[in-house]
Amino acid sequence: MKVLVVAGARPNFMKVAPILRALEVAGHESILVHTGQHYDAAMSDTFFTELGIKAPDFHLGVGTASHAVQTARIMEAFEPVLMKVHPQWVVVVGDVNSTMAATLVASKVRTETHAHIAHVEAGLRSRDWRMPEEINRVVTDRLADLLLTPSEDAAANLIAEGISEANIRFVGNVMIDTLMLQLPVARATNTLERLGLRRRHYVAATLHRPSNVDDAAALAAVLEGLALVAESLPVVLPLHPRTVKNIERFHLGAKLTPLTVLEPLGYTQMLALTDGAQCVLTDSGGIQEETTALGVPCVTLREQTERPVTITHGTNHMAPWPLTPRGILGAYADSVAAVAQATPPRPAGWDGHAAERIVKALEEKRPTKHYSPS
Ligand code: UD1
Repeated sequence: MKVLVVAGARPNFMKVAPILRALEVAGHESILVHTGQHYDAAMSDTFFTELGIKAPDFHLGVGTASHAVQTARIMEAFEPVLMKVHPQWVVVVGDVNSTMAATLVASKVRTETHAHIAHVEAGLRSRDWRMPEEINRVVTDRLADLLLTPSEDAAANLIAEGISEANIRFVGNVMIDTLMLQLPVARATNTLERLGLRRRHYVAATLHRPSNVDDAAALAAVLEGLALVAESLPVVLPLHPRTVKNIERFHLGAKLTPLTVLEPLGYTQMLALTDGAQCVLTDSGGIQEETTALGVPCVTLREQTERPVTITHGTNHMAPWPLTPRGILGAYADSVAAVAQATPPRPAGWDGHAAERIVKALEEKRPTKHYSPS
């Protein structure tokens, strides 16, 4: 089987690593396309090195632009690659612009290439149409031929949108494959010592969602909330480039003073930081899942989550919305207290073997010439 795998942005890399490995083990040919949506060493190259991902067979080099321009650039550059490679499967992961752009192209040339599309992490829904990721998820799932879901609740979302059950396979969470493989490596690093931190005696935070960082008042409120938490324990904040730019733009630099601010971290260091934290405050999707897998309390700094299984079967708590400094502090205290009482078991399929199930699903559902989405 010839399988083209697409990756573009930081949260994609830990998802494609186990899939590429499982394809190789099963004797299938894989072609890796990096769209270049993320391009900084810290946002991209580090992940390839640390996770042992092969060099991309094609690098589209699209970089940063508005949503329309970035999506269009990916589409324009991806089409000739797809026509040249002629894979049986195009595998896309997650919900970033690269995911949707590659899916759009593959679906439009479907009759010429006969390539079929598998979406890994299908069926997640925030129901918040202001999130670019929600648009990416819905469009990708509607066009994909095979919907590979990470948690058992995801299938219901797809079925409610009219997608045929025959095209849905529950495979579990592939990001947790990477977490389980890398956790011993992360624990063997001296990340905490280097940062002067003691296990369970600090809080980690991440912040990059447009809803939190593109508005001056919202960003100020979150930073003030983190400062309140920092009155009891150090708060470590690796900063995404988008957040850095906006803190400068809104002149909020002084609000970082109570916090320990870091550059974006590579995969292993970030995992070590998450694993050792007393609690993580985040607006990331992936970190909600990683904290649940690790049994670390998590507070999600968003209005809703597309990953409700991290609340029903995990350690995640939503901060009260709209975010206020006191609300963040209260949610932090509540989440630490709740997880101290009982650490929930991991959700089904978060067991380190999702990539094998993904490859099996591709093998079983060999596309036929006339196959099309339901
Ligand atoms: C993207 C994803 C988001 C994901 C996030 C993780 C979409 C719509 N959003 O958001 O779902 O959670 O990645 O990081 O696909 N930048 C750099 N260096 C880089 C990449 C970006 O400096 O390597 C800067 C850009 O100049 C830009 C900002 O970061 O100002 C945003 O980058 P972009 O890829 O547009 O979106 P993210 O916010 O990273």
